[in-house]
Amino acid sequence: MCGIVGYVGKDKCIPRILSGLESLEYRGYDSAGIAYVVNNLVKITKKQGRISNLKENINIDEESYVGIGHTRWATHGKPCQVNSHPHRVGKVTIVHNGIIENYETLKNELSDYDFVSETDSEVVAALVDKLYKEEKDVKHVLAKLKDYLIGSYALGILIEGDDKIYAIRKDSPLIIGVSENGNFIASDVPAILEYTNLYYLILNNEFAVLSKDDVVIYDENGQISTKNLLTFEGSREAAMKNGYEHYMLKEIYEQPKVIMDTIKEYISDVDTLKEKMNGLEKYEEIDIVGCGSAYHVGLVGKSLIEKYGHIRVNVDIASEYRYSDHIYKDNHLVLVISQSGETADTLAVLRKAKEDGIDTLAIVNVVGSSIAREADKVLYIKAGVEIAVATTKAYSCQLIMLSMIAMYLGINSGRLDESIFEEYKSLDKLINDILDDTSDTESVAAMIYKNKDVFYLGRKIDYAICMESSLKLKEVSYLHSEAYAAGELKHGTISLIESGTPVISIITEDDIRLKTLSNVKEVCARGALSIVITNEEVLDKDVYDKLILVPKLHDLVGSILVVIKCQLIAYYVAKLNGCDIDKPRNLAKSVTVE
Ligand code: AGP
Repeated sequence: MCGIVGYVGKDKCIPRILSGLESLEYRGYDSAGIAYVVNNLVKITKKQGRISNLKENINIDEESYVGIGHTRWATHGKPCQVNSHPHRVGKVTIVHNGIIENYETLKNELSDYDFVSETDSEVVAALVDKLYKEEKDVKHVLAKLKDYLIGSYALGILIEGDDKIYAIRKDSPLIIGVSENGNFIASDVPAILEYTNLYYLILNNEFAVLSKDDVVIYDENGQISTKNLLTFEGSREAAMKNGYEHYMLKEIYEQPKVIMDTIKEYISDVDTLKEKMNGLEKYEEIDIVGCGSAYHVGLVGKSLIEKYGHIRVNVDIASEYRYSDHIYKDNHLVLVISQSGETADTLAVLRKAKEDGIDTLAIVNVVGSSIAREADKVLYIKAGVEIAVATTKAYSCQLIMLSMIAMYLGINSGRLDESIFEEYKSLDKLINDILDDTSDTESVAAMIYKNKDVFYLGRKIDYAICMESSLKLKEVSYLHSEAYAAGELKHGTISLIESGTPVISIITEDDIRLKTLSNVKEVCARGALSIVITNEEVLDKDVYDKLILVPKLHDLVGSILVVIKCQLIAYYVAKLNGCDIDKPRNLAKSVTVE
């Protein structure tokens, strides 16, 4: 997500804005920029790369007392200087956080303007400039923006010749900080804590006018609105996690939003889906390749794409695939999955496939990353910045993306009809219901955290979920775990089951339900501590010590609910074990070495 900081006051603005942007680094970014007023003129400096890169290119002590700054986490258009913020059009300079869904329509209507960037944000600047020319009063412009913009936005605005900051938000975060010496706008509280802990919250479509010694907030109709001045209690570190104890928990709780953001990007209607996924139906065989969780989600993708797309799917870990010999079909696709888009082995697979003349597709989170840039086609997920080393929300968005690919192939081949869209539309509510009550996962964590080994059992798509659940548990809680195909246990590993060994069985598919339950009975007969996660009541009470029920959904989306339960189990076990949950020992967020 992008970061916004603005300051107007008696002190120089540049140091305050840069310091605020640095405190928002946790939001992730690929470029940074600042606009500030000197002798009634707006000066802009913006650079790709880190804030330190920006600092090297400006005079931090320049006499300027009003300015706005931005760190960009690219959503529209690759990371580069032209696409970075602030954007100036005519007399208007803006910084923007959010996604304008109708920016192409607006761009066509603003035909008098020449656009230099690929961004939706520059279109907003042009719209504000056009309306300002008509209205002559920025407040009238801001009260009208909601009639033009569809999507999310937090805007900081400077007007040439004006020494105020104008700010408005809808669905993207923005707060108004106040202090004796000046006033701030910021995406998040940490950005102002060095100077003040006093702030106002503004609601959707409310807007604010900040001068050096005053802040006026207006409601969506342009009427002055009185607000309670809030005081942030706590450290900057606490503020960056929005009050969650760990980034991992914060990101688990971001899943309802980011999963829906990813869904909306692709299935607002059938035409959008077909446009984004057009051509996938031509492939005879697909190799899905990734590392760690990206590999595990590929196994879920295999199950769904083969079932609904009737296309053969092979799944492999990148570090093996890149050194293997491959027999490619005429219409073969290599689909690489990577949250960071920088994983060395996965990037190597992509490059080798391209050398071999094979079509490549990437599912990536970080816009403009190496894998995203080099793949023939990229499907971005909208997970936002993921800080915790253990992926949660990115994995879930990757799963949903693979589900939508399977759904597209199913619709395209007539195996599914468009009513299937309904299965995706209330996912956020169902996930929120799970997140609202974590007592079951917390009690499972309390049952197993002292053990040395935990087994996950499942068949088919449930086995793929077991693989990811087991990795989550291992990497954040250091508790050894193994995922096993339920039917495979009796071919050797059941020898490890003894009294009290925790076995977590995942059962969501009807055609294997009874089979897996009989495997559960086998481990129970050997004294296992049995936890069953399923989507139907289990009548035989002897097969579990703890039962976790999730709603029964279409198998295109059902496993999302199970994996979130398992993410929470891993999180609470790690918490009970006192582990460094966001930065587990020996691990890095992006493995850019082989
Ligand atoms: C996820 O919890 C792990 N930290 C790790 O397995 C990760 O999925 C893997 O390194 C791949 O990373 P990528 O998605 O950025 O390529």
